[in-house]
Amino acid sequence: MIKNALTTKDRTERTVPIVPPGRTKRTVPIVSPFALFVALLAVCLAVLTFGSCGEKAEEPVIQDRIVLGFSQLGDESEWRSSSSNDVKRAAEEAGIQLMFENAQQNQFNQIKAIRSFILKGVDVIAFCPIVEEGWDNVLEEAKAAGIPVILVDRNIKAETEGLYCAFIGSDFHGEGVKAGRWMAKRFAGAEGPIKVAEIIGTENSSPTIGRYEGLREVFKNYPKFEIVISVPGDFMRSKGKECMEEILEKAPDIDILYAHNDDTAMGAIEVLEEHGISPESDLVIVSVDAQKSGLEALREGKINCLVECNPYIGDDLMDLVFKIVSGEPYPEMTFVEEKVYTDKDDFSTLPIRP
Ligand code: AHR
Repeated sequence: MIKNALTTKDRTERTVPIVPPGRTKRTVPIVSPFALFVALLAVCLAVLTFGSCGEKAEEPVIQDRIVLGFSQLGDESEWRSSSSNDVKRAAEEAGIQLMFENAQQNQFNQIKAIRSFILKGVDVIAFCPIVEEGWDNVLEEAKAAGIPVILVDRNIKAETEGLYCAFIGSDFHGEGVKAGRWMAKRFAGAEGPIKVAEIIGTENSSPTIGRYEGLREVFKNYPKFEIVISVPGDFMRSKGKECMEEILEKAPDIDILYAHNDDTAMGAIEVLEEHGISPESDLVIVSVDAQKSGLEALREGKINCLVECNPYIGDDLMDLVFKIVSGEPYPEMTFVEEKVYTDKDDFSTLPIRP
């Protein structure tokens, strides 16, 4: 006999656990098809004779939660991952239902995500615009649907007013100014020309424009600084490497590397080291973000100055969402707090990044 094969008795009535092991077992009889047919017939007759018995089954209770549609622009950098994680954490803690879409660095995907949020009728839409222009149509659609829009992290240039109700993010121009002022201080007393190579971020994005213009505004007062080359690195480590190769080829003799974010700075440092150039002693490196890898490089002496760009805005965003939905007054422009960390700092006071 095959082990564990069912006997006739087993076939008519067997015991199966329908609750997790360890709890009370229930006996479920196996019924023949004919018996089942008779039973069903009896139920139908009873219903026809006496009407439906008891109350209608209750609908499941749907929690009355605020729904936030969030379009993240991509996954290009450490900063971006921190930003996405922080928004998800804050939404969960605030009890806000988050519909999160990642546009993979593509404006078209962001527009598509915003349209889908409009169709789903979310309460609020928030998005990190990859570039400044090209949002008017979709934001008109959100406005027509009566859905408030919050810009997060980056800003836009709209042709008409009133297409979004609030902005929360960084002062990118201020970050460029901070970088320029630190360079001016570090090179005070040094004779010019002081040659600067720049790795910019995503073209036509507000952080790139702000960091680019902010630096140049400071340099107007310090003509000894000369920006000898400026190349687009799209905020990505892999592109930072390509940029540094290009810089070494076209302008090998630089004093300062100004990278618009940590990822491009880290890519550039990798290439410098491959070429036998010491990031610790052969040039000065200034980067923006102050995320984990940037802070590590600062500790190791490979980066000299980090202008912070703060991605931890999830809690402030959820507060804003609550206020907008409940009709309370809310700030239209919120700039997050940001610091500057340098090689002269007491490293024990540097922030710890996850
Ligand atoms: O918009 C913020 C910028 O975008 C960060 O500096 C950069 O790392 C990110 O990709």
